[in-house]
Amino acid sequence: MTAAKPYLTGHYTPVADEITATGLTVEGRLPTELTGRLIRNSHNPKPGVTPTHWFKGSGMVHGIRLRDGRAEWYRNRWVHTPALDGAPYLTEHGPDLTASTAGTHVIEHAGRLLALCEANLPFELTADLETVGAYDFGGKLTSAMTAHPKVDPATGELHFFASSPFPPYLIHHVSSPDGTVLESQEVPGASAALKHDFAVTAHHVVFLEGSVTFDPAEHSGIPYRWHDAQAARIGIMPRGAGGAADIRWYEIGQGYAMHLANAYEDARGRVVVEGPAVGREGWQRSWNWWVGAPERGAEPNSGSRARRWTVDPATGTVREEQTDDLTVEFPTINEEYLGREHRYQYALSFPDDLGIGNHTLVKYDRATGARRLRPFGTGRLPSEAVFVPAEGATEEDAGYLLTVVGDLNTGTSDLLVLDAAELSAPPIATVRLPRRVPAMIHGSWIPDSAL
Ligand SMILES: [Fe+2]
Repeated sequence: MTAAKPYLTGHYTPVADEITATGLTVEGRLPTELTGRLIRNSHNPKPGVTPTHWFKGSGMVHGIRLRDGRAEWYRNRWVHTPALDGAPYLTEHGPDLTASTAGTHVIEHAGRLLALCEANLPFELTADLETVGAYDFGGKLTSAMTAHPKVDPATGELHFFASSPFPPYLIHHVSSPDGTVLESQEVPGASAALKHDFAVTAHHVVFLEGSVTFDPAEHSGIPYRWHDAQAARIGIMPRGAGGAADIRWYEIGQGYAMHLANAYEDARGRVVVEGPAVGREGWQRSWNWWVGAPERGAEPNSGSRARRWTVDPATGTVREEQTDDLTVEFPTINEEYLGREHRYQYALSFPDDLGIGNHTLVKYDRATGARRLRPFGTGRLPSEAVFVPAEGATEEDAGYLLTVVGDLNTGTSDLLVLDAAELSAPPIATVRLPRRVPAMIHGSWIPDSAL
């Protein structure tokens, strides 16, 4: 008998069905300005299916509808892609970009809800989370799409990339707020290194290649492995048509950063990039959890520490520093500050090695250096904290943090609406969800005004 895969147990145990529940119980006062949907995505294989890798599990979206101070519904739906019914990604004609788990993220773009997985086309959903089908920007997108697109708050444009283990390794795309693909540029100098996230600043696009690269010998279904010889690099590309030709790649220390919190240009023209990163051991312990192999960490994230890379184009140098000693992942910010200097960053701390005992929401204040913690107690796992700005806010942290907390003690889950400015205060509101919601990857708050 083999032990259950870690991604099928505890907080990660999939749910077996799709449900809809209306008229949810709310404790506290739901701000009326929170009128929209919190939609989150996770890997939730169908009953009886054991994926070979956590990330190969079929995507399921969970939505919570808030309107005028009420929690109108909760519903969960698999993203109904060909892969959910067993269609293979690799066919005799090459990759099938529609054979997606669609289980990584969900965003809104040009009025559409899109469920994302980085090896595939996006999948469009209705406002009630039913699957419409693969979305290719009216035929303009013939490549995969990252699960971490970025909206430039200054222009409303959506930046995203396509990464492939085969040439062209990297393509950068820009879509207008109405969903028209404006630019598609192959990025010179990229390699087959694994690329999950990136960043956009006022003048640049920032790509990241870590020490993890394509390796066909890896048979878990995600063909990537750590290689010491794979140079880790940051690519700084001028924005705009033709910018790709002027990209500069800067070598950095060995490591892998799954997610970036933000990047911006400072007053001296340096590009500052921040996000949690792992070394070789942290990567391997994390990977072993993702595939259910021995010598894995107790949590899906092991040893990821907040890092800052300061790239100076004038000198061609990069300064690297670890900015905190907690194991953190899922960095988020007030996305109105995306691409410019942010003061606050939020993240989740995991109780592994230098984690702090239980899952904890962390708030970093870059101006004072302060670190605030909000623990959730034994057996309670918060999801990535999504920041929603308050109406008319002038302070960067004036707003709400939305997190879905799963509780293994009771087998229930709640949506917490927290005051981002007062992290330790009691929740502004708690929405009782009708079921335990499995631990989730990424998601978005989508106000009604966007749909
Ligand atoms: Fe991600």
